[in-house]
Amino acid sequence: MHTNPIGVFDSGVGGLSVLREIRKQLPEEDLLYVADSAHAPYGDKPKEFILERSTAIIDFFVHQNVKAIVVACNTATGAAVKELRPKYTLPIIAMEPAVKPASERSQTGVIGVLATSRTIDSNNFQILFARFANQVNILPKACPGLVEQVERGDLCSDKTRALIAQYVQPLLEQNVDTIVLGCTHYPFLAPLIQEIAGSSVTVIDSGSAIARELKSRLGKHTLLSNRSHHGSVQFWSSDVTGTAKHIISKLWEAEIDVINLPERVPA
Ligand code: DGL
Repeated sequence: MHTNPIGVFDSGVGGLSVLREIRKQLPEEDLLYVADSAHAPYGDKPKEFILERSTAIIDFFVHQNVKAIVVACNTATGAAVKELRPKYTLPIIAMEPAVKPASERSQTGVIGVLATSRTIDSNNFQILFARFANQVNILPKACPGLVEQVERGDLCSDKTRALIAQYVQPLLEQNVDTIVLGCTHYPFLAPLIQEIAGSSVTVIDSGSAIARELKSRLGKHTLLSNRSHHGSVQFWSSDVTGTAKHIISKLWEAEIDVINLPERVPA
């Protein structure tokens, strides 16, 4: 069981930002990644749809004999994880925006959280918000359109820059000194977000914390790989437009192959 792969998925290519942290911290593990790009963004879909897609992808991973699942999507975490956990015996690791480290390091006591509207409206986020509300002033900012820019591999055009400035500027005016990236697509925009926010602002995401959490959960279940060589990484996408290989290769910074995600999981 300990050499079985780990399944990581997102509404699209954003979860690759989590996958690269997992690869860094757990190089001996075999990793399977599903980008549900045909259905991205999840943020504007009903909760039931997100639950249905997440269930289909996890069933696909179960069919591939994974030993653990990483929901590398804040939106799917907020919309579906509570319902998913009781359905599976596998460890399921899910996202949490990095509000805790942000609140610990903020000097101005004001932090911004960039995320999808669905994440900001989720119960999980409200609970997180309430946990830190007496330590720090948290300013959530929904960022419609940013997921789509990353899905297109457009990380630095004028349009992407204008969208980021539109979302970040009001936060800066309210004295934010730390910006939390509460969507796994946004770390690919971190250089531009940092440039627009300026060097006095810290930009943080949860990728490495999630990889640490995965490592600790696998350790507890004695599921860590005992190989001494590097594991493999395989990519699937539900996108049938033919651009998945190009975009994923660009974000993964290596020429990789992408397999079409089957419509239905074989029984
Ligand atoms: N990467 C997803 C997240 O972390 C994007 C959400 C979406 O598809 O709307 O929230």
